[in-house]
Amino acid sequence: MPDFMPVAQTSDLPEGSSLLLEVDERLIVLIHAAGHFYALDDICTHDGGPLSDGPIDATDGTIACPRHGAKFDVKTGAAATMPATKPTVAHEVKVEGDQIFVRLND
Ligand code: FES
Repeated sequence: MPDFMPVAQTSDLPEGSSLLLEVDERLIVLIHAAGHFYALDDICTHDGGPLSDGPIDATDGTIACPRHGAKFDVKTGAAATMPATKPTVAHEVKVEGDQIFVRLND
């Protein structure tokens, strides 16, 4: 299993925002929603849209694809609404002090 890698500072990511990162040659969207940090593959499973360009809804805990509006659970990557039906990959996140770490899942 890969190690946790330092990817950003908490100050880089105000509440309700997201940040596009490249981690081990993989595009990841880091999300700050409702006081927690999450990381997903920056890929909508409907047709590859960039989730990092979409709005976060902290109320239902989702991020929406900017192309056709599919929503994904920020915690699990599960497809919450059509037209996406398959999950995107969720990665592990931990915060120590001001440092955010991500451990990639396959
Ligand atoms: S590409 Fe994301 S909803 Fe279509």
